[in-house]
Amino acid sequence: MSKLLTWVDDRFPLTKMWREHVSEYYAPKNFNFWYYFGSLAMLVLVLQIVTGIFLTMHYQPSAERAFSSVEFIMRDVNYGWLIRYMHTTGASMFFIIVYLHMFRALLYGSYKKPRELIWVFGVLIFLCLMAEAFFGYLLPWGQMSYWAAQVIIALFGTVPFVGPELAQWIRGDFVVSEATLTRFFALHVIAMPLVLIALVVAHILALHEVGSNNPDGVEIKKNKDANGIPKDGIPFHPYYTVKDLVGVAVFFIIFFFIVFFMPTFGGFFIERPNFEPADPLTTPANIHPVWYFTPFYAILRAVPSLAGSSFPGVAVMGASVLVLFLLPWLDRSPVRSIRYRSIWFKLLLAVFVVSFIILGYLGAVPAGTTETIVARICTILYFGFFVGLYFVSKFETTKPVPERVTTK
Ligand code: HEM
Repeated sequence: MSKLLTWVDDRFPLTKMWREHVSEYYAPKNFNFWYYFGSLAMLVLVLQIVTGIFLTMHYQPSAERAFSSVEFIMRDVNYGWLIRYMHTTGASMFFIIVYLHMFRALLYGSYKKPRELIWVFGVLIFLCLMAEAFFGYLLPWGQMSYWAAQVIIALFGTVPFVGPELAQWIRGDFVVSEATLTRFFALHVIAMPLVLIALVVAHILALHEVGSNNPDGVEIKKNKDANGIPKDGIPFHPYYTVKDLVGVAVFFIIFFFIVFFMPTFGGFFIERPNFEPADPLTTPANIHPVWYFTPFYAILRAVPSLAGSSFPGVAVMGASVLVLFLLPWLDRSPVRSIRYRSIWFKLLLAVFVVSFIILGYLGAVPAGTTETIVARICTILYFGFFVGLYFVSKFETTKPVPERVTTK
């Protein structure tokens, strides 16, 4: 074995890569609960790709057969139901994990210098993930697949000057049709996954270049021993491989509980209208996107239209995602971790999270007068976080940050 390894190492940097990224990658010793979600996101990415490959073996991307091929997978393909439910549950779990992963970055200022690019790659991943989920949702060709795609693509039609042509170009037709289905299939099964994988590799390379942040926001590379190893660092393997395995075990318990006992998750993971085949002549009562898009959908609906055009809402919704890119430059605080930041920052973050959750609820229910008013307030609070952060971080009084990481 060791001879074989030497043979490979002379031709390919296998051991070198293992050392650099795993056995001699020194991560801070004070990682906590919030640090489970990066490795879990990678796990779910792999799960989605593997289950997706098996679904593709039986799925048929045509308007005539898409819906029935999914039913065929559910009823006739051996363990097809398991593969499909793992894929649908995986999609929602992916967003839960990524939202928690992003929240961790807000808690500990992980986007701050020198980790701006890790964050920028992260936001790009988030955008791709949204596109990937959107394309995938059309494929079962159910009522909600069809009508949600119709509504979302129509939004592009509101762009000034080029809108209608743009929407038609995306659809490949005047309405959502088989042309739309086949291109969404191509984008969902190959184009977006390739981009996602490339971005995740860039995300990890950027992380390993500067090293991980931690719950204290202390730079561990500032305190090294005689061998140049950070005093507060421990090798990723075996310490964090073992820790991450605990996360994987807990994740699988929750994941398979949902897959086996509540695969539609009360209509949140697979929506009820999607058990009916797409019908271009019958509009469902309450068209809305899946839960992970509803906060952004609520922002879209909260903005009043201008001279009959809903473009302002579309623009504000776009801005609500794109503003995330600016975070590293909006936050001017000298400290990273929430542990050493002022009460103002804590309040700001709490209001941001609560308004995001309320928006998520509002995006899933019909928009009455009260709902619209609350959505407007929450939209202002959502953007208020970014504006407020700029000023709070400039003037806040922070607590002294310790020299070394703390472990309780
Ligand atoms: C497919 C999706 C993603 C995967 C597989 C992924 C993977 C990872 C992994 C493995 C880590 C190191 C372990 C950890 O810190 O938990 C990490 C760190 C990080 N990720 Fe992601 N990530 C994803 C999406 C995102 C997104 C959407 C963002 C933000 C918009 C983001 C921002 C960050 C940041 C700032 C760090 C550094 C954290 C620190 O050192 O404290 N990631 N990511």
